Amino acid sequence: SSDEESGEEYLFKIVIIGDSAVGKSNLLSRYARNEFNMHSKATIGVEFQTQVMEIDNKEVKAQIWDTAGQERFRAVTSAYYRGAVGALIVYDISRRSTFESIARWLDELKTHSDTTVAMMLVGNKCDLENIRAVSVEEGTTLAEAEGLFFMETSALDSTNVKKAFEIVIREIY
Ligand code: GTP
Ligand code: MG
Repeated sequence: SSDEESGEEYLFKIVIIGDSAVGKSNLLSRYARNEFNMHSKATIGVEFQTQVMEIDNKEVKAQIWDTAGQERFRAVTSAYYRGAVGALIVYDISRRSTFESIARWLDELKTHSDTTVAMMLVGNKCDLENIRAVSVEEGTTLAEAEGLFFMETSALDSTNVKKAFEIVIREIY
């Protein structure tokens, strides 16, 4: 398109992955529409939102893909990852099993991605401090070992949601 030729516009694909109910869909709806749903249903297939931000006076568009954490509801894996240049790998700080799944999600991401991917490890639901099951230090340590950015977020109270997405988008750009 003329936009691409003039170098005025960039479109990046970012994927969100992680176990069911860690809050992937709510992170996306908080970021893209400033909405949170306490009773959201499990995602079936794939959904995506396009979000525009400005970096260095250039319009940068992020196409952010969200799929089901549950195996039986997932879209075709290779198609989901194809062309992705950024990823948020999400666990729930109040459920240890979701943190233990991160290695598996990273494996899948590395197996299916075709280029260098900017990766952010996200410990979501940091509002649930009273039932925390994964320490901040454990998150930091894993992220350092795997070469990922790291951030704890809350889609409920908005903590670090914008930051988490925008660090990934800036890294790609
Ligand atoms: P799948 O689509 O099944 O993979 O799940 P998901 O990862 O998209 O989770 P979803 O966003 O649907 O959220 C699951 C549940 O966690 C919902 O009840 C949300 O309201 C809740 N939730 C999401 N984010 C947060 C958060 O930051 N804090 C708290 N307390 N609850 C959250
Ligand atoms: Mg979902």
